[in-house]
Amino acid sequence: MHKTISGFSKLTKIEKVDWILKTYFNDDDSSRNLVMQYWNSDQKLQKLHDEFIENTITNFYLPLGVAPNFLINKTLYTIPMTIEESSVVAAASKAAKFWFERGGFKAEVISTTKIGQVHFSFSGNKDELHNYFNAIKPKLISDAASITKNMERRGGGILDIELRDKTEELDNYYQLHATFETLDAMGANFINSCLEQFADTFKNETETHKINGISIVMSILSNYVPQCLVKAEVRCKIEELKDKDILNPEEFAEKFKQAVSIAEVEPHRAVTHNKGIMNGVDAVVLATGNDFRAVEAGVHAYASKDGKYSSLTHCSIDDNEFCFWLEIPLALGTVGGLTSLHPLVKFALQMLGKPSAKDLMKIVAVAGLAQNFAALKSLTTTGIQQGHMKMHLMNILNQFEANETEKKQLIDHFKKNTVTHSAVVEAIEKLRA
Ligand code: MEV
Repeated sequence: MHKTISGFSKLTKIEKVDWILKTYFNDDDSSRNLVMQYWNSDQKLQKLHDEFIENTITNFYLPLGVAPNFLINKTLYTIPMTIEESSVVAAASKAAKFWFERGGFKAEVISTTKIGQVHFSFSGNKDELHNYFNAIKPKLISDAASITKNMERRGGGILDIELRDKTEELDNYYQLHATFETLDAMGANFINSCLEQFADTFKNETETHKINGISIVMSILSNYVPQCLVKAEVRCKIEELKDKDILNPEEFAEKFKQAVSIAEVEPHRAVTHNKGIMNGVDAVVLATGNDFRAVEAGVHAYASKDGKYSSLTHCSIDDNEFCFWLEIPLALGTVGGLTSLHPLVKFALQMLGKPSAKDLMKIVAVAGLAQNFAALKSLTTTGIQQGHMKMHLMNILNQFEANETEKKQLIDHFKKNTVTHSAVVEAIEKLRA
């Protein structure tokens, strides 16, 4: 085992790489070349990326793909997607085309309220605490004026602060539960700054109001945002579902609905079902410079809101009409943070027509719905492996550095034969022999 290192963050980038190479790679030159191969020759651009985080040693590429033909509320979008998983962009594009021909997607933002909490403990008299809170509430808000000024000028700010008694769940536990409107900003910094100011005021005024025993534990936004909700849907007459893979639309609609119902009642299936939705959601969230971990955590909490993990999409068949929809919480930003720093994020946002946060919520929800539609359509008709194996074939061919002629011959061969890793390797070897 090597010794710990202190002062690592103070080393230059080269020194950090040297230490890694010496410690883990026997000073191997090919590893050094690998790390440095990913450095951008544009030093200004590289510095920008280096400074996003700490201890950067190189860049880690993910593909940025696009899925065209998304008709959302009568506007046509090409959706940028950052994702490493093959088939996701292809599936999104297919679903976009399918629904383009059937009137497109509809999406609406239901609400945009975000939440933050000051968690504190208090062992004294509850009435005294309530009186204190009511007396201090206007000051909690006015003391945060310098933080909220700009946001308020644009129409956002603090919506409300409530005192919540959580002592039934945990001894002496209370919260200041605050709600915010952060407009086009994701709002994490704004909310956290407000909360820390609330906490200061809440603590500092205790002497004047003669109340003892308030101890602030922490102040932080919540990534669970069930009041920052967006809905996306598609609908059409059952017979309009017909296409090359859907020869019997009635049977397809019933089976599709049943697949959704299974995910509604069965958590094992629901997790995979929702994972497919997040393939679309995360890819757009990442491409547009938003925090996919926050989105993931919030969305999955929402999937369990009724006490059991369940499907985020739903399906109905009424009066010969097929309807399929998704409702998810999404706290997104289109200004500030990475959105104004990362050149490719700016590019992605421009491609989407510089959307407001509300527009982006709709686009992301549609990407999730499209992905789920594509997955369920494959699963309930041809099976998922047909598409996956096609991409898998390409990956194996690339691994073996197949040239264009070899690729063409092998793709033709596997139109009639089942793709497995060993079958592809065998076919390459045979071709090359
Ligand atoms: C794979 O990334 C996603 C799927 O498993 C989703 C699903 O099963 O619905 C295909």
